[in-house]
Amino acid sequence: MIELDRLTKSYGDVVAVDRLSLSVGDGEFVALLGPSGCGKSTVLRMLAGLLEPSGGRVLLDGDDITYQPPKDRDLAMVFQSYALYPHLDVRSNLEFGLKAHHTEAPVIAARVDEVAGQLGLTELLRRRPKELSGGQRQRVAVGRAIARRPRAFLMDEPLSNLDARLRTATRRELVALHRQLGATIVYVTHDQVEAMTMATKIVVMNGGRIEQVGSPLEVYDQPASTFVAGFLGAPPMNLLHGTVRSRNGMVVIEAPGIHVAIAEGSTEERPITIGVRPEEIRVAGAIRPGDEPFADGIVSLVENLGGEEISYIEAGEQTIAVRSPRGAGPAEGDHPHLAVDPRRVHLFDPESGRRLRWSNASSPATTPAASFRPTTRVMS
Ligand SMILES: Nc1ncnc2c1ncn2[C@@H]1O[C@H](COP(=O)(O)OP(=O)(O)O)[C@@H](O)[C@H]1O
Ligand SMILES: [Mg+2]
Repeated sequence: MIELDRLTKSYGDVVAVDRLSLSVGDGEFVALLGPSGCGKSTVLRMLAGLLEPSGGRVLLDGDDITYQPPKDRDLAMVFQSYALYPHLDVRSNLEFGLKAHHTEAPVIAARVDEVAGQLGLTELLRRRPKELSGGQRQRVAVGRAIARRPRAFLMDEPLSNLDARLRTATRRELVALHRQLGATIVYVTHDQVEAMTMATKIVVMNGGRIEQVGSPLEVYDQPASTFVAGFLGAPPMNLLHGTVRSRNGMVVIEAPGIHVAIAEGSTEERPITIGVRPEEIRVAGAIRPGDEPFADGIVSLVENLGGEEISYIEAGEQTIAVRSPRGAGPAEGDHPHLAVDPRRVHLFDPESGRRLRWSNASSPATTPAASFRPTTRVMS
């Protein structure tokens, strides 16, 4: 179990990591997810002992290891660049960490054979790194980490040098490995798909701080901020600006081209940001040229992804992405009606970007939307 307690790293005036606290349970696969420069690698390097924190503590199974040298931490690091020894063959690369820890020769041989078997490297043990593909090299790098049986694995964008197909395959391998070994993994990535598909817990970071911690689905379904909402999903959640106000006993959100009744009740009028996932928007009917033009948006572009299509609809000055099964979406130039389940509408404070309403009733809620009861009406 790993605990980070107000961990901080500054470079002069730049605070790369800002009082970050996080606990990683035994056997968890935790993804640190965020854009480039948000401090992910800095966190991981402090955890590994490769970088001295400016403040805060790192605890491993309750022991303070903040200033312990890396070799005493029993944590294995896997980097984006494989960092294999080019002059050594695969077997020697796999043995390396074990030899450095003075493990006995028969134990080393048995463990290398086991790891090679697990990772499909048995046939490659005599090859040098330059005789391997990128995927095979990455597997050797992972194997070297596994062979040591560390207390936890720290991985920094280990798949980002692989091509798309290999990345998908290696993703599955890592998930299988995590299940098989029951290992604790802290995994740094800027790729939301990697985080969503592999992690048991996602830590979304922004500017050296944590935006949200949760299971992949919690983070996807209940984003705590517009930052999180806009970071997950492809295309990400639509974030639209409008005004919330009361109209005929309903709470509505309005903007040019947008009118959503989200609940019965009343509210103070104020600016608001609404979020709707592209797959939650339904096209209730498509109006063709020559029909009565009464919809508020026009489809400016349709992207066909093979199995599904993404339509971009210009509503007032804002663009709404809609995701539909193949053939079910509107065509370019259409003026469609859009509908949405109001319970799927997320509300955010436009200034802070923080979530205003939690559709999960047991979650904390803040005003003004806290007292809204969802209705079944539309966005058009
Ligand atoms: N050695 C350094 N000197 C000064 N600034 C650094 C140094 N290393 C990282 N930074 C800064 O710290 C921030 C976080 O960097 P990093 O942890 O590498 O981000 P990430 O891994 O999320 O892309 C960035 O703004 C980066 O420019
Ligand atoms: Mg990095």
